[in-house]
Amino acid sequence: MRLVMLGPPGSGKGTQSAALQERYSVPQISTGDMFREAVTEGTELGKKAKEYIEAGELVPDELAIGIVEERLRKEDGAHGFLLDGFPRTTVQAKMLDKMLLGLEAELDGVILIRVPEEELIARLSGRRICEACGAVFHVANKPPAAKGVCDICGGQLIQRPDDSEETVRERLRVYEENTKPLIEYYEKRGILAEVDGIGPVKQVFDRISRAL
Ligand code: AP5
Repeated sequence: MRLVMLGPPGSGKGTQSAALQERYSVPQISTGDMFREAVTEGTELGKKAKEYIEAGELVPDELAIGIVEERLRKEDGAHGFLLDGFPRTTVQAKMLDKMLLGLEAELDGVILIRVPEEELIARLSGRRICEACGAVFHVANKPPAAKGVCDICGGQLIQRPDDSEETVRERLRVYEENTKPLIEYYEKRGILAEVDGIGPVKQVFDRISRAL
């Protein structure tokens, strides 16, 4: 299965991709996670991406395309993948089509998770992530067993620097401007399925499974 997860910041792309990865045994490829890892490791890519991420802007297309191209060459993606946060612009979507052509593969579907703006802001302001393993929590919706400590690896939970209210508003604006046009791009191809992202995580997961 080859899927793209589309939706505004905080809609639950990462949460649902992690569950889908388990169900369908295909790797979750998150450009956001890959960029954050590069920033933490201080690589050249990380140095270039940092200021864009922290300002809530998109990292330039060529950098995003480069990391996805490299990632798709790995063996574990040969029979499928979940793209979480890529493509985000029409340029990226067209490049993805080219990459897939080269791999003699096609996208099976694009899932668009819809969530109203007030809920997105509430989710992002309460989100906490594990500094060590990247696991995602929420202070109210998905609290860890012990405050500030990751249930999975015991790492420290932190707030993402781009989850401040001002940066979240900028990310939502950037989504409207750059990523929303992709809805039409995939709708025209008849491979887009819209899913209501409100409700418990399991309920949203069931909706996605039915759409698939
Ligand atoms: P990225 O990390 O991809 O951020 P995003 O798209 O803004 O999405 P988020 O990770 O914020 O949200 P999500 O939809 O995954 O929600 P989550 O499951 O975590 O990208 C970060 C930055 O990297 C970008 O701004 C850009 O700079 C750069 N970048 C990345 N890809 C790029 C690209 N292709 N091109 C250019 N630049 C790129 O859930 C959010 C919270 O809600 C969590 O706390 C969760 O527990 C909670 N939650 C989830 N589901 C539910 C539910 N059903 N009910 C209640 N709470 C829920």
